[in-house]
Amino acid sequence: MATHDMVGFSVVVVLLATSVITTARCKLSPSHYQSTCPKALSIVRAGVAKAIKNETRTGASLLRLHFHDCFVNGCDASILLDDTPSFVGEKTAAPNNNSVRGFEVIDRIKASLEKECPGVVSCADIVALAARDSVVHLGGPSWTVSLGRKDSITASRSLANTSIPPPTSNLSALITSFAAQGLSVKNMVALSGSHTIGLARCTSFRGRIYNDSNIDTSFAHKLQKICPKIGNDSVLQRLDIQTPTFFDNLYYHNLLQKKGLLHSDQELFNGSSVDSLVKKYACDTGKFFRDFAKAMIKMSEIKPPKGSNGQIRKNCRKVN
Ligand code: HEM
Ligand SMILES: *[C@@H]1O[C@H](CO)[C@@H](O)[C@H](O)[C@H]1NC(C)=O
Ligand SMILES: *[C@@H]1O[C@H](CO)[C@@H](O)[C@H](O)[C@H]1NC(C)=O
Ligand SMILES: *[C@@H]1O[C@H](CO)[C@@H](O)[C@H](O)[C@H]1NC(C)=O
Ligand SMILES: *[C@@H]1O[C@H](CO)[C@@H](O)[C@H](O)[C@H]1NC(C)=O
Ligand SMILES: *[C@@H]1O[C@H](CO)[C@@H](O)[C@H](O)[C@H]1NC(C)=O
Ligand SMILES: *[C@@H]1O[C@H](CO)[C@@H](O)[C@H](O)[C@H]1NC(C)=O
Ligand SMILES: *[C@@H]1O[C@H](CO)[C@@H](O)[C@H](O)[C@H]1NC(C)=O
Repeated sequence: MATHDMVGFSVVVVLLATSVITTARCKLSPSHYQSTCPKALSIVRAGVAKAIKNETRTGASLLRLHFHDCFVNGCDASILLDDTPSFVGEKTAAPNNNSVRGFEVIDRIKASLEKECPGVVSCADIVALAARDSVVHLGGPSWTVSLGRKDSITASRSLANTSIPPPTSNLSALITSFAAQGLSVKNMVALSGSHTIGLARCTSFRGRIYNDSNIDTSFAHKLQKICPKIGNDSVLQRLDIQTPTFFDNLYYHNLLQKKGLLHSDQELFNGSSVDSLVKKYACDTGKFFRDFAKAMIKMSEIKPPKGSNGQIRKNCRKVN
């Protein structure tokens, strides 16, 4: 009887120990690669710097890549998986097709990391670090990225279609979309400040420049000259008309002047209760930077669903 109890007790201890180890493994930590790949962070930083030096827009593209990864089943590099004849990934989902960029940069960084410490650094962590390094490189705030994400073995085009908000969204749709990821209204308004860098296609702002009433008239007319009612779908325009390659708070200044490029941008300053937050960020860069960094940490820790199997991909474009 006593022996039997001891066996039962040992089983419980082993189970407890196992669950502790599993939890520890699931927890992200800034020092995750400290012993297994001490150069990981500097390799990512150098790769990002090189890519931005070659093409400034890349910084914006890498920031957006992280957002579009995290909003679909968590930050798990699902967006990096290529389509194959037998597999449909997220790259051709409506918000991503002909729009999301930066894949080659991630490939190059991953190749350097595989040389330095094979099979150690996840693609999802590279994307999270590259987003932070891009913002810092372009003059924005820094934050500590916790690491240890696993790469997905699957992707979901349908979830990418529905989870990433379109630029036609109204304020309540934006709030709902971010709330579904555990992000607050304040997080949403701060993260939208990402549109202080980068470019958008005519097709993303056509409705706004022809149909919206809350737009500066001369701003709308100028844009109508390059973005006709039909055609020129891919013509690019700065999301922040003033400083598209600097991470600053001028995005919010533009909103105060009804010069938000996207319908969804101007929704943040159109007579609702979030107007006050836009005004605050427009007046106080420090406040914007602090809230942005906090929100980025929260976004970059959106978890994949429980039970999803992860791995460290060798090639970010396909499962091992
Ligand atoms: C609030 C809801 C959001 C909507 C509706 C939205 C929508 C868009 C659209 C339509 C574009 C232009 C895409 C194109 O025409 O190809 C864009 C670009 C961009 N978005 Fe957002 N976005 C949102 C939030 C965010 C967030 C949270 C981030 C980052 C944390 C972000 C970062 C960017 C960046 C950096 C670009 C420029 C990318 C480049 O030049 O390659 N956006 N966004
Ligand atoms: C440099 O930027 C151009 C676009 O301006 C791109 O086509 C090319 O692949 C980039 N090369 C590297 C090495 O990043
Ligand atoms: C994605 O874009 C390509 C090139 O413009 C187009 O041929 C294809 O039909 C698009 N895919 C989807 C799913 O919309
Ligand atoms: C997602 O969007 C693409 C492009 O608009 C479309 O072709 C596809 O049917 C949509 N739905 C799913 C489930 O992929
Ligand atoms: C906002 O958009 C959603 C989804 O398109 C729609 O159902 C809702 O009626 C809109 N709300 C307002 C206040 O216009
Ligand atoms: C503007 O609104 C009208 C009426 O709702 C619609 O038919 C048209 O397609 C819209 N134009 C654009 C460019 O979105
Ligand atoms: C912005 O607010 C005005 C006035 O409250 C309203 O008429 C309009 O429908 C709202 N949205 C847009 C895009 O103009
Ligand atoms: C298309 O865009 C170019 C600028 O990239 C502009 O010069 C041209 O006028 C536009 N075409 C139309 C029909 O608006």
